Amino acid sequence: MQVVLGVSGGIAAYKACELLRLFTESGHEVRVVPTREALKFVGAPTWAALSGNPVSPEVWDDVHEVPHVRIGKRADLVVVAPATADVLAKAAHGLAGDLLTNTLLTATCPVVFAPAMHTEMWQHPATRANVATLRERGAVVIDPAVGRLTGADTGPGRLPDPAEIFQTCLRVLRGRPRDLTGRKVVVSAGGTREAIDPVRFIGNRSSGLQGYALARTAAARGAEVTLVAANVTLPDPAGAKVVRVESTAELRDAVLAASAGADVVVMAAAVADFRPATRADVKIKKTDGEPEAIHLVKNPDILAELGERRRVEPGPRVIVGFAAETHDVLANGQAKLARKGCDLLVVNQVGEGLAFGTPDNAATVLVAGGDPVEVPFGPKEDLADAVWDLVGARLT
Ligand code: CTP
Repeated sequence: MQVVLGVSGGIAAYKACELLRLFTESGHEVRVVPTREALKFVGAPTWAALSGNPVSPEVWDDVHEVPHVRIGKRADLVVVAPATADVLAKAAHGLAGDLLTNTLLTATCPVVFAPAMHTEMWQHPATRANVATLRERGAVVIDPAVGRLTGADTGPGRLPDPAEIFQTCLRVLRGRPRDLTGRKVVVSAGGTREAIDPVRFIGNRSSGLQGYALARTAAARGAEVTLVAANVTLPDPAGAKVVRVESTAELRDAVLAASAGADVVVMAAAVADFRPATRADVKIKKTDGEPEAIHLVKNPDILAELGERRRVEPGPRVIVGFAAETHDVLANGQAKLARKGCDLLVVNQVGEGLAFGTPDNAATVLVAGGDPVEVPFGPKEDLADAVWDLVGARLT
C-alpha cells in the first residue's frame, strides 16, 4: 500500500517519525511530504532516511515527474500528522501553495488528519469551521488528545500516540465503515480500586485492553466517545475523550454524567462489588497479634442502575454489559442479562491466563430478545467490532 505522510509545522512533528516507522515496518511504501515549516522541526534527511524516498516540500523539485499530481493520485491513503491549524485551513479552502496542499487536492484516496496545536487554536471558531468542512467532505479528522502541551499548559491539542494514529489509519485503509458517525457512546474500562488506607487497595486484574479496544474502534467508526478509565496505563485511544477514575464511586459518577444524552453505554470495566466499610486516614501499622479484619460493604451496581433509570426516564438506547465468569458461563450470563436489564451482554470466561491482560479474547454475546452470537478467539479489536455491529443493528 502507498501511503503519503504529510507533516506540518508543529512541535509534534518528531512524533511523526515513529508513525513513519510503524508504516514502513508493516510493509507500506511511504512518501513523506513535509511543509517548509515542518522541516524547521525535523530535517529532510531524517524523513528521507526513514522512508527511503526523496523528500521535498516544494512542487519545483523533479518537475518532470509532475509530483504535485502524481504523489496524490498514486496514494492509497494520505495522513497528515501533525496537522496544524494552518494546514487544516488551507485544506478546507483548497489552497495549493506547496507540495502537501497540492497532494491533498489531487488525492482521490481516503485522507486522515491528526491535528495538534494549542487548545485556543483548536477551539477557535475558524478551526472548528475548517474541521467541520473537512469532515463533511469525508476526511477523517481525529480529535486531539487532552494533556500536556508544549509549555506548562494542558488541554485538548496533543497529537494522539503514534501507535493509535497508526491503528486508525489501518482501519481506514481496510475500508472499515464510519457507521457510528453522529452517535455518542460511553465506554468504561479497567478495574476499580477500593482504598483500605492511603497506600493499600482492593483491586482486580483488569488491564483495560478490551474497553480500550471498544473505545478505539467506536472512535474509528465515527462515534463521539467518552472513555471512563479506571486505573489503566495504556495510551489514550485516538479521538476518545478520556476521564480517569479510581474507585467505584468515582466510576459511577463519571459514567452517569457522561451517559446523559448518550446513545450507547458499554460497561466493560471490572467493577469491585465490595469496598472496605471504612478507609483508614493513615497507613495501617503492623501490630502484635492477629490483624484486624476488613469489613466490606456492597458497592452500587452501575450497570443495573443504568437499566433501572432507563425504565423511568429517557436513557441510552443501547446498554451493553460484560460478564466475567469462571464457570457455568452461559447460564450465569443469561441470568445476568435479565437481572441487569441490559440489551447485550458480552460473556467471557476468565481465569488462569484467559481474557485478563491478553490481547486476544473469545466471547458469547447474549442478545435480549435474540439469539446469542459467538465471537471466535481473536484480537480484542475484533470482539469490539462484533459488539459495535450488534449495537449498530439495534440503533437503526
Ligand atoms: N458492574 C457494575 N457495577 C458493579 C458490578 C458490576 O456496573 N458494582 C457491571 C460490570 O461493568 C459488567 C457487569 O456489571 O458490565 C457484570 O459484571 P460481573 O462482575 O460479571 O457481575 P457481578 O454483578 O459482579 O455478578 P457476579 O459477581 O454474581 O458474577
